[in-house]
Amino acid sequence: TAAYAVFGHPVAHSLSPRIHAAFARQTGVEMQYVAIDASPGDFQGAIERFWRAGGRGANITLPHKEAAMALCATHSDRARRAGAANTITAAPNGWHADNTDGVGLVHDLTERRRLDLRGRRVLLLGAGGAARGVAPALLDAGIGELWIVNRTPEKADALSDALGEPGRVHTRYPADLPDLGAFDMLVNATSAGRGAGGLDLPFSLATARTLAVDLSYGEAAISFLAWAGAAGCEHRLDGLGMLVEQAAESFALWHGQRPDTDAVYDALSARAD
Ligand code: ATR
Repeated sequence: TAAYAVFGHPVAHSLSPRIHAAFARQTGVEMQYVAIDASPGDFQGAIERFWRAGGRGANITLPHKEAAMALCATHSDRARRAGAANTITAAPNGWHADNTDGVGLVHDLTERRRLDLRGRRVLLLGAGGAARGVAPALLDAGIGELWIVNRTPEKADALSDALGEPGRVHTRYPADLPDLGAFDMLVNATSAGRGAGGLDLPFSLATARTLAVDLSYGEAAISFLAWAGAAGCEHRLDGLGMLVEQAAESFALWHGQRPDTDAVYDALSARAD
């Protein structure tokens, strides 16, 4: 059976093995999918050992998404635009890099939640790997404006430059947040919820109709979504749906069939409640 894996550090709590096993059962695909913990210093070696052991594809998670780009021979356009890979696939001449995070998010919002993103004024908080992964797909989904605010402003500017759409993409400093008015959608792509320091956001960013999305799920999403609740946002989502959808997109790349995600999402969200 073909071998697939998720590489991360840490990776023990990754839901990806469970998600891909459920997809494989549903579609009748024979494969094994394991979690492999690789420290940054050993990532390249771990990927090479995986290749020699018959590895055919892998998901890449924190902190390796940028390093994965560097060791791939070829890159999809969306991986290049994100500067980060979450999916690599074995090809005759080496690994091929792709990124399904952005389409995963858009799929969750537009298909599962039936939300219309077109024309929305969107604030993206953060400019790291997660932000870079979703920004191109949000633009492709037809949002009206993308405002990027990051603690380190140079990274917001670099992301804006890479997106190459000066008419729709704007950057501001964190200190400008109180002056930006309300948004139709707030996307927390920072890792602040995974660490000690929280975000300091003014309530003026949101109204009751603002959609608040945290790209993290579980504990890491709690503080931003609690802030959004206090700010009055009626629609608040964590990144569990995006996780399941990006996995389905990766599964489709590898196995040629896109699994039905509803049952897997329902099982995981019931477990998380
Ligand atoms: P990821 O792959 O999760 O995006 P990353 O590439 O390390 O991880 O990016 C983390 C993002 O969260 C960055 O935008 C980071 O801001 P900096 O670029 O200034 O480092 C942001 N971030 C992390 N902790 C934060 C905090 N306490 N307050 C605000 N932003 C934070």
